[in-house]
Amino acid sequence: MRSFIASSVLLGLASAAAVPAVEPRTYGHEHKKFNVQVGVRPYYLVDNMDEGPLKKKLESCSEQEFKTSEFVFSHRGAPLQFPEHTLGAYKAAHRQGAGVIECDVAFTKDKQLVCRHAQCDLHTTTNILNTTLAAKCSTPFKPYANGTAASAKCCTSDLTLTEFTSLCGKMDGFNPNGTTALSYMDGTPYFRTDLYASGCPKLMTLNSYIDLVDGWGLKFTPELKAPEVPMPFNGYTQQQYAQDLVNAFVAKKVDASRVWLQSFVPDDIFYWIKNAPAFGKQAVYLDERVDTPAGYLNATASIPDLAARGVKILAPAMFALTKVVNNEIVPSEYAVAAKKAGLELVAWSFERSGWLQIEGGGYYYQYVANVTYNDGDMYTVLDVLAQKVGIKAMFSDWPATVTYYANCFGL
Ligand SMILES: *[C@@H]1O[C@H](CO)[C@@H](O)[C@H](O)[C@H]1NC(C)=O
Ligand SMILES: *[C@@H]1O[C@H](CO)[C@@H](O)[C@H](O)[C@H]1NC(C)=O
Ligand SMILES: *[C@@H]1O[C@H](CO)[C@@H](O)[C@H](O)[C@H]1NC(C)=O
Ligand SMILES: *[C@@H]1O[C@H](CO)[C@@H](O)[C@H](O)[C@H]1NC(C)=O
Ligand SMILES: *[C@@H]1O[C@H](CO)[C@@H](O)[C@H](O)[C@H]1NC(C)=O
Repeated sequence: MRSFIASSVLLGLASAAAVPAVEPRTYGHEHKKFNVQVGVRPYYLVDNMDEGPLKKKLESCSEQEFKTSEFVFSHRGAPLQFPEHTLGAYKAAHRQGAGVIECDVAFTKDKQLVCRHAQCDLHTTTNILNTTLAAKCSTPFKPYANGTAASAKCCTSDLTLTEFTSLCGKMDGFNPNGTTALSYMDGTPYFRTDLYASGCPKLMTLNSYIDLVDGWGLKFTPELKAPEVPMPFNGYTQQQYAQDLVNAFVAKKVDASRVWLQSFVPDDIFYWIKNAPAFGKQAVYLDERVDTPAGYLNATASIPDLAARGVKILAPAMFALTKVVNNEIVPSEYAVAAKKAGLELVAWSFERSGWLQIEGGGYYYQYVANVTYNDGDMYTVLDVLAQKVGIKAMFSDWPATVTYYANCFGL
């Protein structure tokens, strides 16, 4: 059963702290009002769908009130339009109804945990190359020259926590033809925007993320990112890194039931199952073995073994959960095997592909591209994942799109 998150106790505490003197207004179910907003995009996508029962059903929900849903996992905040893993991005995800919010976790030089999608993406997700901290990058910026693309590599482990938090977020992207640091930094993909990236978008540490999401009464899905430096790093072991992530939640008295840890590294999952079982029993194994046809077959075959070892939730990229048979999108062998083994599934990532007309939606739509033509078909795919595959949740770069669907179907 997928439940809504609008717990009167948790939201009540948050509202009471913000407005102590006034009794907040309550609505129908005694829940404190939080005005979830899905904006115009879901309506645009529904308009764009082919005629049929799904379109009719989604249209029928157009005027309903929208609520936070745990079916909606915010992927890196709301990076379709906000710089990823920044305060503004998390606020947008909250407003759009995400019940669970992600922080990808990387470590700094002084072994503090921060939110970044990769340990070494500061050159594309922050303004570091336009600051004096550029001098600390693992690989300094090299401009485009003589047909060779511009390059740089700047890692969280190059900086102390204080240095990291002095940076500003930016839209992820770079221009390989950049002949200066500023022109290299200017590479936002066509389907995103710099509209909400002005000023200095605030970066998040793991601790500031926990405080923020806890204050909203929402749930957490932190991902332990694979290190891009040899481990141990100055004595810091992979096990300590995995343990420190757990310790951050324990120190803030966040119950394990509110935390879905994730990792692409099976040993991280097994570490948590053994050493932090309350967290391990709902850890999410991000399965990238499906990325090649041979790996997909191996991954599918290995599901009973993973289940026997205590893994409860699998999360491959969304394409691996469906396939096309006679022009119909249906659950894949992988999805069927996971259900048979009693495992739950989480899919990623919605709203990361741009127009489906361009290269059929690319990576995330590779198994269904033969039957997806227009952006409205995104909802056709989501519907198969929700209703036929039975996913527990969908990560989205723009949570509102999934919130609209989830509310319409009572998820
Ligand atoms: C680069 O730094 C200069 C000086 O601090 C600042 O005025 C400018 O806005 C920055 N540009 C970007 C894209 O960060
Ligand atoms: C580009 O090529 C020219 C001519 O071969 C050479 O003089 C110059 O140093 C090269 N520039 C860089 C940045 O490698
Ligand atoms: C970089 O330059 C090449 C060659 O002129 C061009 O084909 C390509 O589109 C440019 N890439 C970007 C991101 O501007
Ligand atoms: C698939 O599994 C076989 C047998 O364990 C192994 O030899 C092979 O390398 C695996 N292939 C991939 C792509 O994982
Ligand atoms: C898409 O259709 C083509 C032509 O019928 C077929 O060869 C191809 O295997 C299909 N791709 C997928 C992923 O089903």
